[in-house]
Formats: sequence, structure tokens, C-alpha cells
Amino acid sequence: MKGLVLSGGKGSRLRPFTYTGAKQLVPVANKPVLFYAIEHLVAAGVRDLGVIVGDTGEQVRAAVGDGSRFGARVTYIEQPAPLGIAHAVLVAEQFLDGEPFVLFLGDNFLREGVREYVQGFLDSGANAQVQLCPVPNPSAFGVADVRDGRLLRVVEKPADPPSDLAVIGIYLFDAHVLEAVKSVRPSARGELEITDTIQWLIDHGLRVDHRVVRGPWIDTGRMDDILQANRLLLEDLQQRNEGTVDGGSRLVGTVVLERGARVERSVIHGPAIIGEETVVRDAYIGPFTSVYHHCRIERAELAASVVLEHTELVGLPHRIEDSLIGRFVRVEGEQSRPRVYRLVLGDHSRVAVP
Ligand code: DAU
Repeated sequence: MKGLVLSGGKGSRLRPFTYTGAKQLVPVANKPVLFYAIEHLVAAGVRDLGVIVGDTGEQVRAAVGDGSRFGARVTYIEQPAPLGIAHAVLVAEQFLDGEPFVLFLGDNFLREGVREYVQGFLDSGANAQVQLCPVPNPSAFGVADVRDGRLLRVVEKPADPPSDLAVIGIYLFDAHVLEAVKSVRPSARGELEITDTIQWLIDHGLRVDHRVVRGPWIDTGRMDDILQANRLLLEDLQQRNEGTVDGGSRLVGTVVLERGARVERSVIHGPAIIGEETVVRDAYIGPFTSVYHHCRIERAELAASVVLEHTELVGLPHRIEDSLIGRFVRVEGEQSRPRVYRLVLGDHSRVAVP
């Protein structure tokens, strides 16, 4: 059993972060979302992993390395352009070498992991197995049409969905899928679609099983989804302190301080995680907040947010909440008059001011 982890693509729904960074490397509870996929595969006994990379390949390689720190062996596979999930399977043909495999979209997160689904597939003798999850907005995903316990049809982002069952980004296939990806044609959005590939298997009489996952499952492709995934993961946080806290500070609930984090004259209400070498000074950090490495939160209040590395929030008159803030950002309060907003924001930034 091999694993094929997709870490290429455009990430247009997560701009501006994805102008400069791979969306699969956005940290959730201070760990890149891609790492959870790799860890879940390893936990399911899948250690021989192909990682599909595109424009952001250098960053992905730097972050994941040869896979040994996860107990995996990683082979990088270049996808020349993001021409679709099924196209990524096609470019991985040599790596897959006719073995059954788990296809795992690197921005998908399934809290329960994949062990049960991998084992179930291996025991079943099916040619493919899709995982389904009921969602309130099925039109944003591939959707399954299941009747009398049989998967009849899968459709990509239908305006009129046949059910509320999204096809999640964790699929199991045997070698027949290669014939399918060679047969499907590009869709209206110009991609070789994984849904069309699955439909091809169904239409050609191959056995495609389905499982409904317990969830929660999150496709972290959008800001709100990142905040939701962050909230979920922080619920499971285990207390850890590799930083320092001065006598004037108070940590309440589950708080993780990573190596070299410093908390001075501040209150942190967990669950929260403070990254390596980050300084929290004269500040309040509220529940469900993740601050990544090398940040400075000073004379500021922050809650239910995710802050990426090297960012500074200093001297702010209002609390920042429900926010996703990128790398090397500086938000600073000003006492001078006139009271104006002075902004340097990248394309697709969003700011809500009181
Ligand atoms: O998240 C589940 C959904 O994923 C499914 O319900 C849909 O049926 C499936 O098409 C897919 O939809 P998305 O529109 O969310 O796919 P996205 O373009 O975001 O790509 C998913 C991941 O695969 C992402 O980590 C980027 C990577 N990717 C994508 C493409 C198109 C590649 O590595 N190469 C590619 O060519």
C-alpha cells in the first residue's frame, strides 16, 4: 500500500497567503496541515509516500524533508502544472507501480485518521473506496448519489446536489484507476477531475465502495475552515511548557508554550499555543488561538485566531478576534492625531474595523 499526498495546486481560495506559500503548509495548531495527513498515513501503516508538488515545491521539500522524521519514505513527484487531481495521479504512475494506494489531498483534515478506512479497503477486495461526509454546503465539493446503499454517481460541485454527502479528499484505489485517469477528458474548468475518474470506474463495472466518515472532516481551503480546524485541534491540546512565564503572568486552562516562547505580564486563556521564540508581553491571549514562531504580541489582545510566523501585533486599542494573519505582518496602534488607518495590505486582504 502506497500513499499519494497532493501538495501542489493553486490555492486561489486562500489568497493572499498562497501568493507566497503553499496552502498545505498553513499551520493549524502550530503544525502545517500537510503534516497531519502524513502522520495519519503513517499511523495507518502507509509509509511509502509520493508527494505531488508544483510551484511551491521548494517549501514543501524543506518542510517535509525525506520523511524520516515522520517514519515515512517520501518521493517527490513534480506536477508541471495544476491540471487536476486525476492528472496528479497520472504523473505519479511510475511511483505507484501498480500497487493499491491512498490518495490524500494535502489540505484535507480528518480528525479520526484513516486507519479504519485503509484496512477496510484492503479487506474488501473493492477496486476503489470513497469516503463521504454529510455537509451543509455540498455544492462546494464533489457530491455522491447513493441509492439503496450503492454509489451510483459522483458529481463535481453540482449546482443542484443529489445529496448532502461530500466526497472527501481521501480516496483508496487499486491499479484500475490508472486506466481511468488516462481515459477521462478535461472538465469545463480545464482539469482532469477525480470525480470523473471515479464515475469512469463505476460506469465500467468496477467495484467502488463508499464509507461515511465519523468526522469531523475539514477541507482547509478557506480562511473560515482554517479557523475551524484550529479550534478542533486545540480542543485536543495537551499541556506542554518549553518556554518561560514570569511571575506577573497567568496561564489558565490548556496552554502550550513551544521552545523559547516567553510570556511576560500577560494572561493566556487556553486552549492556546504559542510558538517557538514568540514573545507575549503585557498582552491577553484568549481561547482557540495559535500564534506561530518568532512573533511578538505586545500591549494587544488576541482571541480565536491563527497568526503565522514573524508577525508583530503591538499597542492595539481593540481586541483582534476570528482572524487569520499571515507571515511578517506588523499591526501597530498609533497614538498620534489625526486618527487614521494607515494600511499596507496585499491583494485579496480583508480587514474589518469597528
Ligand atoms: O476537499 C475535497 C474536494 O477536493 C472534493 O470534494 C472534490 O471532489 C475534489 O475535486 C477536490 O476539490 P477542490 O476544488 O477542493 O480541490 P483543490 O483544487 O482545492 O485541490 C485539492 C488539493 O490537491 C490541494 O491540496 C491542491 C492539490 N492539487 C490540486 C490540483 C487541481 C494538486 O496537487 N494538483 C492539482 O492539479
